[in-house]
Parts: sequence; C-alpha cells; structure tokens
Amino acid sequence: MPLTGMAFGGDYNPEQWDEETWKEDDELMRQARVNLVTVGVFSWALLEPEEGRYEFGWLDAQLERLHANGVRVDLATPTASPPPWFTLAHPEAMPVTADGTRLTHGSRDTYCLAAPAYRRAAVRIAGALAERYGDHPAVAMWHIHNEYATVCHCEQSAAAFRVWLRARHGSLDALNEAWGTAFWSQRYGSWEQIMPPRATQWHLNPGHTLDFRRFWSDEALAAYREQRDAVRRHIPAAVPVTTNLMLPGYQNLDLWAFGREVDFVGIDHYMDAPGVDGDADTAFGADRARSFGGGRPWLLIEQGTNTVYLPDRVLPKDPGRILRSSLAHIARGSDGALFFQWRQSRAGAELWHSAMVPHAGPDTRIFRETAATGAAVAALEEVAGSTVTAEAAVLHDADAWWALDTNGMPSSELDYPATLKRAHRALWDAGVTTDFAHPESDLSRYRLVLAPSLYLVSDAGAASLRRYVEGGGTLLVQYFSGVVDEHHRVRTGGYPGALREVLGIRGEEHRPLAAGDAVALSDGSAGTLWSEDLRTEGAEAVTSYAAGPLSGKPAVTRYGFGAGTGWYVSTRLADAAYRALVGRVLAESGVRPEVAGLPAGVEAVRRRAADGRSWLFVINNTERQVPVSVRGRDLLAARAVPPEGLTVPAGGVAVVREE
Ligand code: GAL
Repeated sequence: MPLTGMAFGGDYNPEQWDEETWKEDDELMRQARVNLVTVGVFSWALLEPEEGRYEFGWLDAQLERLHANGVRVDLATPTASPPPWFTLAHPEAMPVTADGTRLTHGSRDTYCLAAPAYRRAAVRIAGALAERYGDHPAVAMWHIHNEYATVCHCEQSAAAFRVWLRARHGSLDALNEAWGTAFWSQRYGSWEQIMPPRATQWHLNPGHTLDFRRFWSDEALAAYREQRDAVRRHIPAAVPVTTNLMLPGYQNLDLWAFGREVDFVGIDHYMDAPGVDGDADTAFGADRARSFGGGRPWLLIEQGTNTVYLPDRVLPKDPGRILRSSLAHIARGSDGALFFQWRQSRAGAELWHSAMVPHAGPDTRIFRETAATGAAVAALEEVAGSTVTAEAAVLHDADAWWALDTNGMPSSELDYPATLKRAHRALWDAGVTTDFAHPESDLSRYRLVLAPSLYLVSDAGAASLRRYVEGGGTLLVQYFSGVVDEHHRVRTGGYPGALREVLGIRGEEHRPLAAGDAVALSDGSAGTLWSEDLRTEGAEAVTSYAAGPLSGKPAVTRYGFGAGTGWYVSTRLADAAYRALVGRVLAESGVRPEVAGLPAGVEAVRRRAADGRSWLFVINNTERQVPVSVRGRDLLAARAVPPEGLTVPAGGVAVVREE
C-alpha cells in the first residue's frame, strides 16, 4: 500500500529543543506546508532509558501536537543507535571490523546485526512502539531503522554466516567447488573452519568475499523483516511500512531484494557534485529508487536543503536548487520530498548538516526556499500515485557489483558504480527516461538495454539476456562482461563467456591499459583503461583497433541475433564517442527523448496516471530560459500554458498537466 498524497517535510527531532521552539515549529511548519515528518529515528535512549522501561510520555505529547497541527507522522523505529546501557550490557553485540577491532558506542550504527541480543532488543522496542502507536491517527507510515548498511566480522557473524552458507551450498563439497578452494590449499574440512573474510596476508578468496556480501545483505533484510512484522502486527493494513535506503557509491545491500519487501521504496539522496553533474546524479538516484520498487511511486525520505557532499568539503546549493532538485525526484516518481532535517541541530555530531530551518532561523534564504518548495509540492497533489514509463534500461546487479569490487582484478580502474553512472548519464544527456533492471528480470518491455560492466552474470541472467535479444531487443554490452558465473568462477572457452553467442564474438585475451594510456581506434577516437583481443563470430566490426598489437582487430561489434541486436564495446570509449554510440543504438532501437530538441541540461520527464492523464516535468538545469512546446495547465503557475508555449526560466521548473 502506498502513502496517500504528496508528502513534504523532514526528520523532526523535537527532543533536541524546548517548548518555545516547538511553538515556533508549529507555525513554521504551517508556513512551509509541511505535512509529514519523520519522528523518533534516533530516540532509543529516550524511549527506553533502561532495559525494558519505556518512557513514551514525551512522544505521546509530540504526536498529539503534530496531529493537532495537521502534520502526519512517519514513525521510525530507533534501532540504528542503541543506547549506551545496551552496549554495556551486551558487549558481544558490538561490531568487529575485519582487522579484529571491536567498536564501542559514541557514534551511531554501532551494533552487530547478527547478534541475537541486538536483534531481540530491536524487535522489542519496535514492537513496543507499534503497540503504543499502532492506532494513533497521526501515524501515516512506519520507518524501520535507518539506512541499513553495517557489516561485522565477529564470532556471532561467523556463526550466522556458516548457517547461511549451509543453506546456500548444501554441502561442504559444493562450497569447496564453488569457491575453488583447491587453489592455495584453502579446502575446508568442516563448517567451523570457515571464518568471515577477516584481515589476512594477501588476496582473499573471491567466492568467499562474494558470499559474505550476499550474506550481509540477506542478514540486513532479515533484520528489516523481523521489525516490519513486529510492527505490522499492531497497525492497520492500510498504513505502509518501509525503510530509508541509502544509495551510496558502495553497495552493502541487494536493493532489488529490499524493493520487494517494503511497501514502497524510500531513499535518502545527498547531492554529490555541484552544477549539472549533481542534477545528473539526482536523476541517477531517483531512477534507481523507482526501479527497485518495480516502477511504483516511491518517496525521497531524506535530502539536504543546502548540502552538496564532496569528499573533502560540503558545498552550499545554489539559489533555486532546493526546489529544482526536490521536483527532479518527484518527476521521476517520488510522491513527495522530505529532508534531513527540520531544524538544524545546535549540538551533536551533525551540527553542520543543513536543515529546513537553519541556525540563523526562518528569516533566511534557506527557509524561504524551503517554504516555496512546500508550496510547489502542494500544487502537485494531483500527480501523486502516477508513474513513469521508460523504454531504455541499464542493468544493475549487486552480485556483479560485489564481484568486480574484489582484490586481484586486472585493473584497479574497473569501477562498477562509475560505469553504471556513465551509462545512465549518456541516456540522461540524450533526454531519454531510463529504468534500471536486474539481468534476470523480464526485459521485453524495453527497446534498449545497456549492460555496463556485467562482470558476473548468472546462468539465469545470461538466458534472460539471450531471450531479450532474440525477441527483438537491442543490447549494448561493455568490456569485461559475462566472464564469471554466480560463484565468481571464470566461464572458460573464450570471453565474454555467457554472452558470446548473443554477441557473435569470441575474445581470447583481456588487455588492460596502463594508467593514462590510450589505444587509437579506426573512427579517429581512442579507448582507455581496457582493450580485448577479439574476433567476430558472426558479428560485424563497427570500429577496430588502429594501433598496437590489436591493430585491425574489432573494438566495437554489432550482431543481429534472432529478431534483435547485440552490441559489444571492448574498451572504454572517450566521452564523445560513447555518446555517439549510445545515440546510434537509441536511434536504431527507436527510443526517443521524452521531448525532442531540448538543450543539454534540460530534463523532461513524464508521469502518467492510470486514467490517461499525464504531467510533463521540465527541469531547466541551465543558465538560460528554455521554450518548450506543450499545451495544458501549468500547475506551479496555476494557469493555462499561454498559446505561445511554455518558457521555463534558467534554473527553474515547470509541471504541465497535458491536454
Ligand atoms: C543520512 C542519515 C541521517 C543524517 C543525514 C545527514 O544518511 O540517514 O540520519 O545523518 O544522512 O548526514
């Protein structure tokens, strides 16, 4: 079940403030059109000050207040930050890093998800909250935990890992075979000999590390389910339960699996670059969020009002950006926009993280832009529940990501998330709405599928890609794909292993390039990072290597297979050549931009309702105004689009209910 309507608001931590401030909050929330706040995410120590003793009085009062003010509550279980009494009573539930360091409290997220004491305590507080507030009229949704992501290498993790391994492999013989333990004398003679991949002398076994990552994702999902079920027992069927997923540059969760278990997908998204790269990153996050939930409406649960997180500093957002990036998420299927957090903290670890009400108070650009964004979201109420359709997809697979993220790869520049982002960016630049898809899913609804770096592909994934191309799809596969199976074992006989047939090629040698080196190609461009010694087996060479030992051999190939086409790119093309290639496959497969002829940096995305209505979102990330030919009602301006057409100002947004 979805959340109803468009949500606007953020994390609300009234426990950090006094009564005076709460009064101001009530008034400011009204001004900003806040209608949903996340409460209680980090309140465990206040809610359960001692094991088994609850203090709900303060939360009762807060929920009453919010309800009286017409603000709905996203009630969170506080389990991402156990109180100090918990640590002291259960030192064995504190996480251990790969090098054997046991962490202690003083930050947050410090627990071992596999520790029975932690799991029991988490389910207990979640159940107690749900029992108390299950019928509370303010509570519109439940928010389990916060950003599941931690892993642990302790003895309890080891025990849980072994149980997981038995279920996965059935027998020790099968595990030894899957992991290739004949290499380096790693054969396991009993389950107890298997450890988490802790600090060791040199490379770890790649099958072992891959399974450990799968195990942790499953463990986190089990922890989520347990809490969800404990909450579900006490709440009305129509109230949704979810968690806030983070989509960082690393991946500890199989987000497809989480997408199946939540009532709707919720994500946290913090912009990682200024300028248009940040806008492209917003679309990258939003398109993934929608896809993990199977296309259903989802919710942006956290973003920063004024934070652009770079590795070494936090930049402010340009004026106008709070609105623009909130609506960029809504354009791609979010039914609302929430922030972390309502009021900027004056103490604690995140006192410099931006908020809807900054330290300087409401008489500020940030609060004014926040309130204007609240008004804009309110004007989009009719859009809630509608969905986004894409004709192109990028494959996204946790196993492929984890497998490539292993020691001992032929090049340290192989970077799964970067290749995903690049593929998505090429489609974004072309104005094409893009889904992400799992290789084993039914791909037949897409005209074009990009497979950037599908290093690991399961037999089922390979069969699915074959069916897709055979049935008429266009598949563009990039270097170093298809080469290992689900256990991280090489598919012998030639690269790209499982995809040879569909691509009509056979590779005999990977030839990574030295850092900074390039290899000339027959179209005048050059490849970097990687090259492959390939021959065609039915495919046509579209571009060939033009220098060096591979001179004259195919670099980019195209093969008609069944009713479709399989393309292969064996090197990292330069940006312009890559964009040109993506442009060619888009044209060949008949995928068109949402609105033709828009300048680079202007996004157009459509949401469609089951009753045939549609809304065109135009997001102008450039410094010039842009005319768009569309007819209908301009929802933000609250008037019909004038006969001469729509003009979207520099850095502005328009949403038109189309005629
Ligand atoms: C999120 C997290 C919030 C807050 C925010 C700002 O990832 O869920 O609790 O920490 O980042 O850093």
